[in-house]
Amino acid sequence: MLKLIDVCRVFGGLHALTNVTLTVSEGRVVGLIGPNGAGKTTLINSISGLDHPTRGRIIFRDQDISRAPPHKITAAGIARTYQNIRLFGEMTALENLLIGQHGRGQATPFEAFVFAPRFLREERALRERARALLERFGMADAADARAGSLPYGDQRRLEIARAMATDPKLLLLDEPTAGMNPVETRELGEQILRLRDEGMTILVIEHDMALIQQVCDEIYVLNFGQIIAQGTHEQIKHDPAVIQAYLGEDDDGAA
Ligand SMILES: Nc1ncnc2c1ncn2[C@@H]1O[C@H](COP(=O)(O)OP(=O)(O)O)[C@@H](O)[C@H]1O
Ligand SMILES: [Mg+2]
Repeated sequence: MLKLIDVCRVFGGLHALTNVTLTVSEGRVVGLIGPNGAGKTTLINSISGLDHPTRGRIIFRDQDISRAPPHKITAAGIARTYQNIRLFGEMTALENLLIGQHGRGQATPFEAFVFAPRFLREERALRERARALLERFGMADAADARAGSLPYGDQRRLEIARAMATDPKLLLLDEPTAGMNPVETRELGEQILRLRDEGMTILVIEHDMALIQQVCDEIYVLNFGQIIAQGTHEQIKHDPAVIQAYLGEDDDGAA
């Protein structure tokens, strides 16, 4: 579904990504781990069009998206969340999802202006869909709460719900459990597995090795911009290069 081929990203003299080759197959949950500064967020920025590789190619469903702008990539079926939450804090949870769905309706601006039946019908359908999404993420009660006033764990879940509102084929999660307690983390893991069971393909950057073990079919380890290991949790956890780069550090030093 997604293929990165020899992707490089250089910032000035800094090699943030060097010859990264990686595959995410349909219906899988793939993990991306590595110490802080390894290049994980840069990688997700490149896939989502926020940034572009200096060299190399990114192929999504047989289409080269290496140079595509973010809205084209969203339309192609890729959605993401951010390491630093990017919700509209002053809007309600429901409104944040309605914005996520923006552009899905067929009604013209004129129809919207005159409240034409098609516009009203679509508006109602989008609201129903947004409510269903909230319910699915266990947040039905929070629909009318200001997003900025929600507990941190709920804001993280709302971000995922908003990404899902664009109806993606591939979901990119950048440290989705950051700031969550172990119970919330475990629940989010179950949520990720449910999404996978419904057919979603997921690439997840994560700090928490318990979550990685819980959800990932396959893991890539990034260190100083290079893939140093790839395999199941069982396979990589004994890899000396991984232990040296990552598992040897204390919990907070790596993700
Ligand atoms: N826009 C940028 N300009 C310059 N350097 C950047 C930029 N974005 C990231 N970097 C650098 O690239 C490296 C990788 O960063 P990042 O992808 O955020 O790592 P990670 O998400 O693995 O912690 C870091 O050294 C970071 O300082
Ligand atoms: Mg990061």
